[in-house]
Amino acid sequence: MVSDEMRAEVERLKAEQDAVILAHYYVTPEAQELADYVGDSFFLSKLAATLDCKTLVFAGVRFMAESAKLLSPNKRVLMPEPSADCPMAHMMRRETIDQARATYGDDLAVACYVNSTTQMKALSDVCVTSSNAVRIVRALPQPHVLFIPDQHLGHYVSEQVSEKNVILNDGFCPTHEAIEVVEVEALQERYPHAVTLAHPECGSWVLEKADFVGSTSQMIEAAVSSDATDFIVLTVHGVLSELERRCAGTGKRFHFPATTPICPNMARVSGEKVRSCLADGTGEVDLPPDDVAERARAALSRMLELAR
Ligand code: 13P
Ligand code: SF4
Repeated sequence: MVSDEMRAEVERLKAEQDAVILAHYYVTPEAQELADYVGDSFFLSKLAATLDCKTLVFAGVRFMAESAKLLSPNKRVLMPEPSADCPMAHMMRRETIDQARATYGDDLAVACYVNSTTQMKALSDVCVTSSNAVRIVRALPQPHVLFIPDQHLGHYVSEQVSEKNVILNDGFCPTHEAIEVVEVEALQERYPHAVTLAHPECGSWVLEKADFVGSTSQMIEAAVSSDATDFIVLTVHGVLSELERRCAGTGKRFHFPATTPICPNMARVSGEKVRSCLADGTGEVDLPPDDVAERARAALSRMLELAR
C-alpha cells in the first residue's frame, strides 16, 4: 500500500512537471497504485500517442517506454527502472528477416510483436500486441507473414489465421513458457468449475487447456464479465491487483500456478522508483537515429491504424 505521504509527494511532482504516470499490470502493486492509467501494452501505447502532457513516466519494461517515446517524440519519457528489459525483445536476428524477404519478396509481411527492440520494429512492416495480433495478421494483404519474435504468440496467431502461411521465429517469454501443463491440470482438478484464462505467450500445450486466450486486459475483462466464481489465471501474478480491484465485492477468486509466474524485470519497478525518477529526472529514454525512429514509428502507427 502506498502511504499518504508518498501519494502526496508524487502528486506534487506530477503537477510541477506536467507528468502522467502509465503502468503495466505486471509491475508492483505500489507502482500500479501511483499510476494515472494501468493497462496492457496496446492500451498504453495508444495513450502515449494521444496524451497531452510534457512528461510520461512509464512503469514497465524498456520496449514499452521506447514505443511511447517513438509515438510521442516531443515528450520526455522516464523509466523508473531503466534496467527493466524484456528478454524476449532480444530473441531475434536481422538475418532471419533478410532471409524471409529474399525468399518471399513482396508476398511477405513482417509482423513484429511490440516486445521487441526498436531496431527490429524498424525492419518490420507492422507491429502487433497480444490484444490485436490475430486481427492485424488477418488484415494484412500478403499471404506470407514472418511473425517475430515470440514463437508462442506466433503459433497461436497461425492457428487462428489458418489461411495465411505464418512463419515462426524461436523467441519466447521465459516467465510464460515456464508455466507447466501439470500445474494447470492440478488447478483444474482442484477447481473443476473454474474458468481458465491464459495469455498467448504461454506454450500451445498450456493454451490447449484454456477456456479463454487473450492479452492481460482481455483476460481481466473476461473475468469481470463472467458469471463464474473461480478463475485459473495463466499469466504474471501482477494482474491480481487489477482483478481484485475490478471484482471487489463479487466473491470471485483467482488461482495462479503453484510456481507463481513473476516477470523479474517488471517486479523491479517499485513505487519508490516511480517517485524518485520524477524527483530526479532519471531514466530518460532517448530517441534512436532519425531513420530508425521513422521506420519503427511507421510500424507502430500502422498497428494503431489497423487495430482501430
Ligand atoms: P500484454 O499485451 O497483455 O500487455 O502483454 C505484454 C507482455 O509483456 C506479456 O508478457
Ligand atoms: Fe517480457 Fe515475459 Fe516479462 Fe512480458 S512477462 S515483459 S514477455 S519477460
